Amino acid sequence: MLYAHIAGWGRFLPDRVLTNDEISRQVDTDHEWIYSRTGINERRLAQGETTATMAFEAAARALARADMHPSQVELIIVATATAEYVFPATASLVQDYLGATRAGAFDLSAACSGFVYGLSMANGAIQSGSVRNAIVIGAERLSLVTDWTDRGTCVLFGDGAGAVVLKRSHVPGGILATTLRSDGSGADMLSLPNHHQNNIPFLAPEFSPNGQHVGKITMNGRQVFRFATNNVPEIIEETVAKANLTMKDVSLIIPHQANVRIIENVARKLGVPDTLFFTNLDKVGNTSAASIPIALSEAVKANRLRPDDVVVLVGFGGGLTWAASVVKWDVTPPDVTLLDREWKRAKYVWARGRSQARRFFRQMGARLSRSPNKMIESGRKK
Ligand code: UT7
Repeated sequence: MLYAHIAGWGRFLPDRVLTNDEISRQVDTDHEWIYSRTGINERRLAQGETTATMAFEAAARALARADMHPSQVELIIVATATAEYVFPATASLVQDYLGATRAGAFDLSAACSGFVYGLSMANGAIQSGSVRNAIVIGAERLSLVTDWTDRGTCVLFGDGAGAVVLKRSHVPGGILATTLRSDGSGADMLSLPNHHQNNIPFLAPEFSPNGQHVGKITMNGRQVFRFATNNVPEIIEETVAKANLTMKDVSLIIPHQANVRIIENVARKLGVPDTLFFTNLDKVGNTSAASIPIALSEAVKANRLRPDDVVVLVGFGGGLTWAASVVKWDVTPPDVTLLDREWKRAKYVWARGRSQARRFFRQMGARLSRSPNKMIESGRKK
């Protein structure tokens, strides 16, 4: 039997902080409403960063913690709703930035549940023996798809990325159980219509005059709130039972960071204290697929996870989708000095150089292989 253990973790947040007060100057809202209704104080805004560069930064940090060289990586999964391209996948860009020359790479679309879906896919690939390790990343640049005139949504979202490295082991532990769910009948409750699709049947007319919400997040907050508080407690209990454990065995729950009131409601329904849940949404807001791995990295930093702890990761959001994973926290992080870290980063400069060289030689090859045709054509003209 093979097990997928979390061997490394990392997060990246852009430097630019966007406060509630700043948003209040743009739309009809105020800090008091935002903080009391959501628990959010501030969020980060990508400036020069893209979804792929943030994903790369988080992945590089997770690899350093796992003490792994990029050439050892076999699979890269990026969960995101804000990829720069439909294709190539953000995961392929990350693979290139890392210089992970032996890795397969793909993106996964399951909105705010995407990171837990990604963990489940990577766990399956490791357990089946098809790969020995994987990087699972959640990365979002939600500021690009936020409707900054809609006070019902623009106060919620932030940018960032988080990642974990999973490694194969024969030692029992790591990811113990996962449950994935979807209910597409709730697609209209939370959606992000693609720019190239103007004819979305389920969008209510008020949301689509002249296609103005295409390319922007649309949400019925109250309905999503109800969906989350109804389904999250159940999926947590179901997944904990699947791992042959009880709620008493759980040391920490890291939920998707959407709203502190959702978390309080879920805690009440489960009959556990709020303190069992880790939250960081006051500082980062809702970063969709990135929220759980960012929170996980911060929970480790805050000493909220100790060896042999059982932690539940639970996501919910667009689709509708929801998902939970029960993980035995059995990693002991290696001591990585600053010098070590800087030295290790040098390999990414090398990866950029190699990528540029490959592009250059590919272009040269294309030019050279075109020239015989040109010669034939110019011969015909004569
Ligand atoms: O990540 C994916 C999952 N997403 C979620 O889980 C989000 C779930 N939903 C929520 O977190 C909450 O529903 C929101 C934070 C989005 C909204 O909070 P709410 O308590 O459900 O507010 P509401 O939509 O019921 O609106 C209550 C009132 C309305 O005014 P009226 O109609 O009562 O006069 C809104 O117009 O609050 C008003 N309102 C605001 N007022 C000031 C809505 N947004 C704002 C705002 N500032 N930003």
